Amino acid sequence: MTLDELKNECETCRKCELCESRNNIVFGFGNPNADIMLIGEAPGENEDLSGMPFVGRSGKLLDEFLNSVGLDRNENVYIANMLKCRPPKNRDPKPFEQDLCIDWLKKQIEIVSPKIIVCVGRISAQRMIGKSFKVTVQHGEFVDIDGILYTGTYHPAAILRNIHNKPYALKDWKIIKQKAVELGMRD
Ligand code: URA
Repeated sequence: MTLDELKNECETCRKCELCESRNNIVFGFGNPNADIMLIGEAPGENEDLSGMPFVGRSGKLLDEFLNSVGLDRNENVYIANMLKCRPPKNRDPKPFEQDLCIDWLKKQIEIVSPKIIVCVGRISAQRMIGKSFKVTVQHGEFVDIDGILYTGTYHPAAILRNIHNKPYALKDWKIIKQKAVELGMRD
């Protein structure tokens, strides 16, 4: 199955009530053969309107992080979220919503087959790496899960709320790029 075929299926998803208020699903974006996959939390308003992940203020900062280490969202990474539909008023995704949505993400991971998965923010890191993973403490550390290296970093929205953490996020992205090079990144 291709990502496009999976996206077409996902567009008809009515597994939870978030489908009622969505304008668009936000399935994913980027290079379907990327070695680095990013997993954010859930679409916000701009993402719901455009159908693209990380297009608001957080997205601009995420691009700055990627660009700071020579990565580009169009070429070197694939970006997805834990949830494909926007939770009302951008509230945190509920655990049962994550449970209902995660199969889409698992299939995306299977198809993209990345070497590194970067969990962007607490919600994604705690779901994908482990309940006790603390982004504020363990950001930039790698955990091997079934042959994929997972790491967690600050969510750009958290950095926008506390700009003092920006250097830590920039450092995480340096470490991520270095690891990708070590692993023989495809470009
Ligand atoms: N925050 C996320 O976690 N994902 C998006 O796509 C946008 C904002």
